[in-house]
Amino acid sequence: MTGPESRPAVVRPRRLRTSPAMRRLVAETRLDPAQLVLPMFVADGIDEPRAISSMPGVHQHTMDSLRAAADDAVAAGVGGLMLFGVPKAEDKDATGSVGDRSDGILNRALGALRSDLGDSTVIMADTCLDEFTDHGHCGVLTASGTVDNDATLRRYEKLAVAQASAGAHVVGPSGMMDGQVAAIRDALDAEGFIDTAILAYTAKYASAFYGPFREAVGSSLVGDRRTYQQDPANRHESARELLADLEEGADMVMVKPAMSYLDIVRDVADRTDSPVAAYQVSGEYSMIAAAANNGWIDFDAAVDEAVLSIVRAGASIVLTYAATDIARRLQRR
Ligand code: PBG
Repeated sequence: MTGPESRPAVVRPRRLRTSPAMRRLVAETRLDPAQLVLPMFVADGIDEPRAISSMPGVHQHTMDSLRAAADDAVAAGVGGLMLFGVPKAEDKDATGSVGDRSDGILNRALGALRSDLGDSTVIMADTCLDEFTDHGHCGVLTASGTVDNDATLRRYEKLAVAQASAGAHVVGPSGMMDGQVAAIRDALDAEGFIDTAILAYTAKYASAFYGPFREAVGSSLVGDRRTYQQDPANRHESARELLADLEEGADMVMVKPAMSYLDIVRDVADRTDSPVAAYQVSGEYSMIAAAANNGWIDFDAAVDEAVLSIVRAGASIVLTYAATDIARRLQRR
């Protein structure tokens, strides 16, 4: 007797997996070096690049090593660079004033990269205060110690204008203050920087995965950022943040972290036609690196898979500390 039980399978998805060429032909998601952005740290007052112990392979750069690493990234086809400045401890103060000084480390580095690279890549700046404040918060504090939203906006306006005049093509407000995109847009326009784009940190969660970043920027933070960054429990809130950022004039929107928030990446991608970025943050990178250093996981394969999954979820731009290496592998393919 013949019946469905004894019949060989007729639907055979495995036919499309038979060879590398076949798999390449039918791949639904493709990575391109141009969609990768490399976050970079540049520190004031150091003579040698300094390894960040919690981020194997990532360094605080000197101005010279930054320029060399930026050249490497561009040669590998990376689409953009996101710069973070690490000032000397003694230059930090309550308002993060070194952030908008033209001789501050971040602005000097933006100027150096812009003069080296011109418009051959997209130079982005982290527009936030936490690297520059002695208390480590992303804004200025009220007398009672909470982050003062609107006073912080006035600081972001100055930061953004300083970064644009230093040479940034894109400013990236990452502090999660209400109204930050509108405030920055108005300030840039008023100073004639109408072509400086805003990459808005739209859905930024208060995440444990930023841990290694705190070492990377020598953060002074005590406590947490839960009064301004989002609660990991919330999904719909990100839709509201997205609406606000788009209304305020964001040119690109970002979700951060990426891997534990792929549902949010998908939601945001489904709700906007603007470019969607996602940030594979320090802890995501370091977890893979730590497992690889123990011989438990193949670093290249795992990081490629993670970035592919972020793109599959809907991001068209991925910030990753592995950008240069991934781009090189893609170029060789
Ligand atoms: C804030 C900022 C942070 C990161 C990027 N921008 C730290 C924070 O919000 O606490 C984290 C990036 C990472 O972990 O890789 N300036």
